[in-house]
Amino acid sequence: MLSSFTLKLPRQIVFGPGKLSELENTLGRFGARPLLVLGGRSAAATGHSAKLEKIFAKLGILVPTVHIGSEPSPEMIDTIVADLAGEEIDLVIALGGGSALDGGKAISVMLKEKGEITRFLEGVGSTTPSGRRLSFIAIPTTSGTGSEATSNAVISSIGSQGFKSSLRHDNFIPDLALVDPALTLSCPEQLTVACGMDCFSQLVEGYLSTNSSSLTDALALEGLKAIHRSLRLVCADGSNLPARSDLAYAALLSGIVLCNSGLGAVHGFASALGGLFAIPHGLVCGTLMAPVNATSLKNLRIKGDNLPALTKYAQLGSFFSDQQNKTDAWYQDYFIEELAKLADDLAIAPLSAFGVSTTDIENIVAKTGNKYNPTPLTREDLATILHSRIRE
Ligand SMILES: [Fe+2]
Repeated sequence: MLSSFTLKLPRQIVFGPGKLSELENTLGRFGARPLLVLGGRSAAATGHSAKLEKIFAKLGILVPTVHIGSEPSPEMIDTIVADLAGEEIDLVIALGGGSALDGGKAISVMLKEKGEITRFLEGVGSTTPSGRRLSFIAIPTTSGTGSEATSNAVISSIGSQGFKSSLRHDNFIPDLALVDPALTLSCPEQLTVACGMDCFSQLVEGYLSTNSSSLTDALALEGLKAIHRSLRLVCADGSNLPARSDLAYAALLSGIVLCNSGLGAVHGFASALGGLFAIPHGLVCGTLMAPVNATSLKNLRIKGDNLPALTKYAQLGSFFSDQQNKTDAWYQDYFIEELAKLADDLAIAPLSAFGVSTTDIENIVAKTGNKYNPTPLTREDLATILHSRIRE
């Protein structure tokens, strides 16, 4: 029998190459006085911001613009919000990678919420967000975090006491996710790889999550089909628009899936590591995906207490293999081998390339949660996984 579920989604999703031009017709529905949030310098270099300026000029509106040049920090958001005091804004449009989208989402909230953002961050502050925010449109230019469909904005404070924490409320899911895969054509190779691995790990973790539903499973498998078709292709040739479209589709689906089912231990590690070290989020996911899944599979086999997860691992293997009529165990092993091979083929760096050493392991493990991993990983498991990705 089907289990109960709810599904939280953006109010509207517009998807397809060239669809950015539809912003012109959609804008008025969400607000008349937008604020534009862009990423770093790449927004100008790629011509994305020029396309938006053309649309705004046609509509006869002057739009204030702010930049989020790196993963958004509390200070960054608080400063931008303070500088905007007195501006008449009723809509935030964010165009860029995960940082710009999360930054824009946080600004749309904090222009209503008032006060320092830290107060509202999960596990850091003590105040629950009210859910109030300005209208928000998310336009991704990378295929990775799925922020265009999620209810959280990740805010980072990097350092020995650092954190990577979420500003989260169901109301924070964007009003409009405008996904134009043509905008991702200019995404550089290394960023494409990192974002692709983030998206892949989100789909796998959402699918295996102890909080998944039949509907999120279906969406995750749809995204994984697109990953299987196109992840390697897009990493080899970023000008391949059909492959870029597959990745943009997979990233959107990964956002819907993670927003509804949650994630697993790869993202548990990513929260801890992202607060302590300046490592791109997607690379943490890419480098840890194979050892985390290998350990989860090993534990599931020993414990035998989550048979549906073992069936799902077999399903994942059969998805990525062209072999038929193999046993479940064969497909499970194949999936793990494929993850390790993918990380090698894409030359995903070990954690030590970002300054992580064996002396950091205890601290990282203490800050790492299992989230909705299909089986809990022990502290020893987590330490062994980290060891496997540190070269000294
Ligand atoms: Fe992620």
